[in-house]
Amino acid sequence: MIKKTLNTVTGESHVYLGESFSEIEKYIPLERTIMVVDKEVMKLHGHTFPDVEVITIDAEESKKDLSTVEYVYERMMENEIDRDSFLIGVGGGITCDIAGFAASTYMRGISFALVPTTLLAQVDAAIGGKNGVNFKGYKNMIGNIEQPDLVLIDHSFLQTLPDEEIRTGMAEIIKAAVIGSSALFHQLELNKDEIMSLEPGYVDRVVRDAVDVKMRIVARDEFESGERRKLNFGHTFGHAVEKNYPITHGKAVALGMRISVDMSVERGSLHAEDGRRVKRLIDSYGFSEDVDLSTVFEAIKKDKKRSDDVVKFVLLNAIGSAEIVDIPLSEIEKVCLDDH
Ligand code: GLY
Repeated sequence: MIKKTLNTVTGESHVYLGESFSEIEKYIPLERTIMVVDKEVMKLHGHTFPDVEVITIDAEESKKDLSTVEYVYERMMENEIDRDSFLIGVGGGITCDIAGFAASTYMRGISFALVPTTLLAQVDAAIGGKNGVNFKGYKNMIGNIEQPDLVLIDHSFLQTLPDEEIRTGMAEIIKAAVIGSSALFHQLELNKDEIMSLEPGYVDRVVRDAVDVKMRIVARDEFESGERRKLNFGHTFGHAVEKNYPITHGKAVALGMRISVDMSVERGSLHAEDGRRVKRLIDSYGFSEDVDLSTVFEAIKKDKKRSDDVVKFVLLNAIGSAEIVDIPLSEIEKVCLDDH
């Protein structure tokens, strides 16, 4: 087990990597604790969970809203949860968001822990303190930044994940490597088969290093006034693609990263050979999706955040190093319409 601590303006968050959820009592007094658990996770793993009151939720994007948060509040009140209580959220990214938001707003905020059960949540959603829900069709429109007191990463949850979920998590791990750790990038190149088959010793290491990249960035810029935007690498395009094509988040982000790599090379900030190396890595993890990039460009233009004709874009300047640049839409259009 490895313990890391994230120190931020809103608080301290202790991240325990490679710890079993069955050991949670070492860290949290369970007698005043309630859990918010994804219904599917409860079915698969509930029999191993500590004996505390459980609120199960449907962890679906369409239900990541205030009505689910209200349901959680009601159940917390019924169970006389108060300011001295503790909430544990157990599930993927949606559950972490709902549990974190409910805990950090109930009675002006109670202590909470997150136990992410998907690879994506272990390297991304459970780390960083952003909690939120969708509103009126807009993603994460209502939310806050409040760090979980504790994040417990138990790799055994990954064993029951479908392959596609593992791949989606891998897209975020590749992102972490290319923006922040050439050493992680190297591991991903060398040990693909071991990592994809979740071999202990391999998967734990890449999760640890990806978490490290995110923690370092969040520690320096918790409120996303600058550097934290680097975590959006590949996501400007990725979100636009997701809105328009029925593809997974991982595939969309992978596609977004490929376009961002092309843009980085085209602008001369990334060496062409490094660009090819990043795209080879993305390909080797099974991400290739034929998407009409001119449609993607139209989607970016329509994106609600585009108030003018310049997009804040994350480019690479080396493997493991990124920068945030204002790019005119016309330049993005050129890359989208070029044949890649
Ligand atoms: N909770 C996810 C993040 O802060 O990025």
